[in-house]
Amino acid sequence: MSTTKAIVLVGGPSKGTRMRPLTLDCPKPLLPIAGKPMVWHPISALAKVPGLSEIIIIGFYEDSVMSGFIKEAKREFPNIGISYLREYKALGTAGGLYHFRDSILRPPVPQNIFICNIDICSAFPFQEILELHSKHRGVGTIMGVNVKKESAQKYGCIVTEPESQLMVHYVEKPDSWISNTVNGGVYLFDKSLFDEIKVAMDQKTARAAEDPLVKSDDILRLEQDVIVPLAAAKKMYVYECKDFWRQIKTAASAVTANQLYLTRIQKTNADFLAKSSSNIISPVYIDSTATIDPTAKIGPNVAIGPGVQVGKGVRIKDAIVLENTVLDKHSCVLNSIVGSNCNIGPWARVDGNPEPEQDVKGQISVTILATEVSLAPETLVRSCIVLPNKSLSRNSANEVLL
Ligand code: GTP
Repeated sequence: MSTTKAIVLVGGPSKGTRMRPLTLDCPKPLLPIAGKPMVWHPISALAKVPGLSEIIIIGFYEDSVMSGFIKEAKREFPNIGISYLREYKALGTAGGLYHFRDSILRPPVPQNIFICNIDICSAFPFQEILELHSKHRGVGTIMGVNVKKESAQKYGCIVTEPESQLMVHYVEKPDSWISNTVNGGVYLFDKSLFDEIKVAMDQKTARAAEDPLVKSDDILRLEQDVIVPLAAAKKMYVYECKDFWRQIKTAASAVTANQLYLTRIQKTNADFLAKSSSNIISPVYIDSTATIDPTAKIGPNVAIGPGVQVGKGVRIKDAIVLENTVLDKHSCVLNSIVGSNCNIGPWARVDGNPEPEQDVKGQISVTILATEVSLAPETLVRSCIVLPNKSLSRNSANEVLL
């Protein structure tokens, strides 16, 4: 069996700004969704791919930010090499691959390399992609997903030849509509990808020498600089993903991702979740160190972190509650993310609307409480973003509370 390796692109502190204020305290890849850090979900799916020897996480977070996760992941997936390589600055989605090419290609030399973005929630059909990839002779296979026509232009759009699955055209965020099939942020490449990246880097250097507007640096974009020419050269194929897929860009999309992952875990690994009962409406994840009053009603689509205390008569639905937060008696949390160390007073209510299909500028859907926010008894907070360390004692709606 030929060797396969995987790269997970996690970005760095200047990325994930739309997840603020949650990412002020917790780096985006480590944000808990369905009881596990965001980056864990693709890694656990990759760990099931036969012949996969190594997962390399590339980002520009400090090593110390990722080290705890790497240690735990190595323990959980002992048969796979798992490491973190840190870019000295943001190098773009292909710059890090170029910079670390020797580490990626060191023996066992991989024949195939998965590349996976962190900011997506997906069923990660890696094995199906590998099967399609081994049937054609292209340099790469991209996972395409279908989105609504109104939102397609927010993504990298793909035009495919239906019979052959050959990608004939790729445009990143086009000005006008070209297709409803978009880049799902998962790729499988032959090792010859590195020849293509070298060509793209050389072309960029040549352009920079001629054109003062083109910067001469190590930044390279996988989508525009590598995939666009590969599509033009008819060297890439498209795997059409029919299973669930969402982008996780905003905090509101984390609530949707939480629901999608919990629903999937319910089918694949139900023991990880809390048992259904009259007061637990599945799917619900409750960390083993959380304390839950038996009269609280929880679910569906709830993830409760370590050390959380849930009091008498509390109601929680469609929500993520992060570590060490206290939900006092009869408080209620719906369509929200409650950050760590918050204190929600008795009879207080935190709620929002489900994530809309289209973002409306200035409109907040889901409520986000950052870390160490406290709500006085009976306070109502609806569709608000609340920054860290705030104490609220008046009702608020559709506001950013600084
Ligand atoms: P936006 O809509 O502008 O955010 O663009 P996008 O959806 O195309 O996402 P983007 O290209 O910013 O990121 C795609 C993936 O690559 C994400 O998983 C990022 O974390 C990751 N990423 C982006 N830039 C870098 C980078 O410079 N280095 C690394 N290692 N990862 C990156």
